[in-house]
Order: sequence, then C-alpha cells, then structure tokens
Amino acid sequence: MIALLEKSKVLGEVKVSGSKNAFFPAVGAGIALGAEKIIIKNTPKIKDVFVMLELLKELGCEYKIQNSEVIINAEKIKLNDVSPENFGKIRGSVVIFGSLLGRFENAKIPMPGGCKIGKRPIDQHIKAANSLGYKVEEKEEYVKAYGTPKKDGKIKFDIKTVTGTENAILMSINSKVEIENVAIEPEVQELINYLKKYGVDIRLETEEDKIFIDGTKRKKIKEAEFELIPDRIEAGTWLILAAATEGKLKIKNVIAEHIKAVIDVLKECGAKIKIYENKIEVEGSEKYKSVDLLIADSYPAFPTDLQPQICVMLLKAEGKSRIKDNIFPERVSHIWELKKMGADISLENGEIIINPSKIYGAEIEAKDLRSTAALVIAGLVAEKNQTILKNFGIIERGYENFVKKLKNVNAKIEVFEDEIRKEEIIKGISKYVPYST
Ligand code: EPZ
Repeated sequence: MIALLEKSKVLGEVKVSGSKNAFFPAVGAGIALGAEKIIIKNTPKIKDVFVMLELLKELGCEYKIQNSEVIINAEKIKLNDVSPENFGKIRGSVVIFGSLLGRFENAKIPMPGGCKIGKRPIDQHIKAANSLGYKVEEKEEYVKAYGTPKKDGKIKFDIKTVTGTENAILMSINSKVEIENVAIEPEVQELINYLKKYGVDIRLETEEDKIFIDGTKRKKIKEAEFELIPDRIEAGTWLILAAATEGKLKIKNVIAEHIKAVIDVLKECGAKIKIYENKIEVEGSEKYKSVDLLIADSYPAFPTDLQPQICVMLLKAEGKSRIKDNIFPERVSHIWELKKMGADISLENGEIIINPSKIYGAEIEAKDLRSTAALVIAGLVAEKNQTILKNFGIIERGYENFVKKLKNVNAKIEVFEDEIRKEEIIKGISKYVPYST
C-alpha cells in the first residue's frame, strides 16, 4: 500500500480508539481467570487485534465482533500448538504464555515477533516462570513451561518489561506472589484493574515498583467483561501531528495523565495545549524551542512509541535537539527516510541528533508501525513536492481508520493499493491522479 501526502494543516476534531496494547492483557486476563466468555469493549479494528483473534482460534476459541465489541468464547480453549507464523507477526501474542500458565499450569509458545525495532528477547518472561517454580524448556523454535507453581513466590525482574510484567501477573493468578521491578505502564495498571474486578487481591506499589498478587481466594467466574482504555500512543501521535503541521485539533477520548510526559515536552517546545476532562486541544506554531536531551524510557517517562513522531516535530525547532531512546535504541529506521527528505538528523553515540531543517516531499519507505506514523507527519509537513510513502499498509497494524480520521481533519492523503497505480506513481509524482479509496 502506498500513501501520497501533501503539506497540510490539520484542523478539527478526532476521536481516539481503544488501546492496542491494552487488548492483549485483556484477552490474557479473561483466559487466566478461566472465563468461558470474554467480552472486550472499545476494541480497535486493527490488524494486530485480528492476528491475536486468529491465534485464539488456533487454541480452540471462537469469536465474533459486534461494532467495537469483541466476544470470545473460550469454553473449548485447549493447549494446541499455535502457528509460529501468526505468533511471530505480533509482540502482544507473548501474553498467551502467562495466560495459559494461569489457566492450565502449562504452556507452549513459538517465538513472538512484532516490529523490527531492535532486539526483543523474552528472557525475563522465562525468568518469571522459573522463579514461580515452573519447569521451562527453551528451544530455538519454542518455549514450554509446565509443573506446579509455588503457592507463595517472588519474581524479580532485572529490567522493566511491559509484556513481561503482564505475563508474570497472569501466571501468578492462583498464587500469592510479590513481583519486583515491574513496569507500570497504563496497560499494566489496566490489567491489575481487570483482575481486581474479578476478585483477585492485587495491588501496585508505584513507589517501590512492586506488585503484590494473591489469587488464592478468588472465585471461579464464567464471564469476564473489560473495556479498553483510550490508546495513549494514538492520542500522542495526534498531538504531535497537530503541533508539527501547525494545526489546531480537538482530541477526544483521551486520558491526559497517560501522556503527561508528551504534553509537558510539547508545551516546553511552545505548542499551546488545553486539557479538559477526556479531551485535549492543541494548537501548533511555526517555530518551536528545541529540547536539550529528551529521554524515552519506561512509564511515566516519554514513551519510545512516540520517539519517531517527535523527531519530525523537532525538525521545526530553532536549535539542536537530542533524543536518547533507552528502551529501543535501534528504533531509528525513520532517520534514514527523513534524511531523504532533506532533514539534518543523525545518530551519534546512541543519541538522535536533530538540527533545524526544512524537509521536502520525496519517495520514502516505512519499516515499522510508529515510524510509519512519523513519516506520515513528515509528508504533511514537507514543502514543495508530494511525498510517496511506500509500505504505508503497516499503519493498519495499530491505528484504527487512520486515513479516514486524517481526511476528516483536512490532511491531504490518498492511498493506493494496486500495482498498476503504484508503478505509475513511482515513475513520477507529476503523473499523480488521485482516485477515491
Ligand atoms: C511493549 O512491548 C509494547 N508492546 C511496545 O509497543 C512498546 O514499545 C514497549 O512495550 C515499550 O513500551 C505491547 O504491549 C504489545 P518491553 P514489550 O518488554 O513488552 C528488553 C508498539 O509500537 N527486554 O517493555 O515487548 C527489550 O528488548 C510497540 O505498539 C529484555 O531484554 O517491551 C526492551 O529493550 C512496539 N528481555 C526493553 O526490555 C525481556 O525478556 C523493554 O521492552 C523483555 C524485554
């Protein structure tokens, strides 16, 4: 899929969809709790969600989708082998490990995948299972865990990991466990809320980064119902997009606290931001102040999932900015594409260095989900030419109705699916004749 983008200011209103990364732990909670019917409200219709639903099918579940509600029938869930191909398409699939351990005290998973943004090992997930007393068999193609978990246990992570923490919680659901050095991202906190709702005694001590869970007294349930929080990364993408395009946007269905670090950075740079209950208004400006050193790190710090997007906005700053991504230092594919557009951006000693630059429309290629969002922003900011963004289809993995939402707020974007058109466009932008999508 190819997107053709042209300089535009976004104006109007946009509504943020349910959170992609809260969907996986919601499924996990339903399975681990032993529910036969799992209802997940406010689910975004995105590719990663559909891949997860296909994986559930392979495990013997059935599902249906009614508007934004997903209903999973997990009555016949079994310990089937799931296909490595589907499992490897997304990272969220890894929560199947903890979910099956929570439900059956047994699990076998192929290696998870997701965006190619650097090394993404699962040693900490395995450490959690080992610490709980499961026997773990680790082969090149799969990880298997089985045995009886300790009734009283302790898990201590060496590093903070989001899905690792989710897995540790899910596999501890029938025990009394203290988990140390946990990730406290809103999606992890939501998983805690999901379980609390169904009688699991679980609490997060944010000061100590510890979770205490006691699932020994919980009752069996037949049905579990969860509602996903708004997607904080989608909300942050809109904020940055509006600021970068000098636009004015009302962003609805947002929890501002979840993107406080992003709001703070944008305000420091000079964007005007007003926060209301459930809604944020942002107004961009022509020039911004640079940031001396922005560090992307675990929550509540600035999220790595918005690092590529903020790079584009900082090209409009008046001085040099530096960014260090402590979570995924190799998440840099957007840098090479932005350079093709004339950006003075580079990677030096593990830091992204951004100098003030005008960018111009060019032919560029997306490599992963968040860099696709960043390159869309670049295409809407770029001067002179239109931008041809190849591989744009990746966006469908994580942003619901992105093109429709963009068009609604005045963004000039056309999307092409067919090869003939593609050839025509690639031969020369001048031949571009938009047709409706
Ligand atoms: C989650 O991935 C998100 N995915 C990612 O969303 C997000 O970028 C990331 O957290 C960080 O916020 C889902 O929730 C499905 P980590 P996850 O384990 O859990 C290292 C998006 O675009 N690590 O917190 O896989 C790892 O290499 C994405 O929506 C180990 O060394 O991330 C990384 O450097 C992409 N060993 C750091 O920890 C492990 O066993 C944090 O990764 C696990 C992780």
